[in-house]
Amino acid sequence: MATDVHRPMTPTDAPASHPVPSPASAVRVHGLTRSFDGRPVIDDLHLDVRPGEFVALLGRSGCGKSTLLRILAGLDRDIEGTVLVPRRKAVAFQAPRLLPWKRVWRNVLLGLPGKPGRAVAEQALAEVGLRHRTGAWPKTLSGGEAQRASLARALVREPDLLLLDEPFGALDALTRIKAQRLVDELWQRRGCAVLLVTHDVEEAVLLADRVLVMDGGVIAYERRIDLERPRGIADPRFAGLREELLRRLGVEAPAETATA
Ligand SMILES: Nc1ncnc2c1ncn2[C@@H]1O[C@H](COP(=O)(O)OP(=O)(O)OP(=O)(O)O)[C@@H](O)[C@H]1O
Ligand SMILES: [Mg+2]
Repeated sequence: MATDVHRPMTPTDAPASHPVPSPASAVRVHGLTRSFDGRPVIDDLHLDVRPGEFVALLGRSGCGKSTLLRILAGLDRDIEGTVLVPRRKAVAFQAPRLLPWKRVWRNVLLGLPGKPGRAVAEQALAEVGLRHRTGAWPKTLSGGEAQRASLARALVREPDLLLLDEPFGALDALTRIKAQRLVDELWQRRGCAVLLVTHDVEEAVLLADRVLVMDGGVIAYERRIDLERPRGIADPRFAGLREELLRRLGVEAPAETATA
């Protein structure tokens, strides 16, 4: 798989200590450190994501999740350590970030190389159930529609790695469930690796092959989710995993559900 190599910002370009790009990894992060004003937010972090793996990233507010995602997206290169990611990657944020003066289909194609036509955007919009809004202005979209347009913009890049930073955070509960199902479907159809940042432990257990908890600048805990799909929150194993992850996040279950 094609990879970008973000070299360390420090001049010690020592290939011997660098991990070798491997087709067995969609993401390979080795000894990553990112500091702001001399304070390390990410501190010697290591992470591997397999091609096609769905990974959810949890952690308290301010622990560095978005910082890590921005680095993987190539939006922040002021780092120490090594980051290997596929060349084809796409990112969707909590806010859809659509340009209000461009119609939806033009937003979807924004920044794509070449001169792809409207049909390319229309196909991606159809995948997220939004073909009928192809020619609309962004301000006429509902919150859920705008989020789906943002997802179409990510998909049109045909990513091997899809980076999602709390993409459902601003949606109401029903729209959120639909959006989660959509991402699940798209992931199964496209087969790309996904790294989903979320605050929602249930969302993480519902969607991910593996859930990571970030703390102290590193991946402090990880849990493989072996439940078969489609998953349901009524499954007692689901409740057990949710409790375990909540405990790791420092949230204790109420006494009456602690043994559930
Ligand atoms: N450009 C920046 N300049 C200075 N500090 C920053 C910058 N970007 C992030 N930080 C700091 O780095 C820390 C981690 O921020 P980050 O946005 O990665 O957190 P997060 O885990 O995504 O939090 P949340 O769950 O609230 O979105 C915070 O303390 C934040 O203030
Ligand atoms: Mg964040």
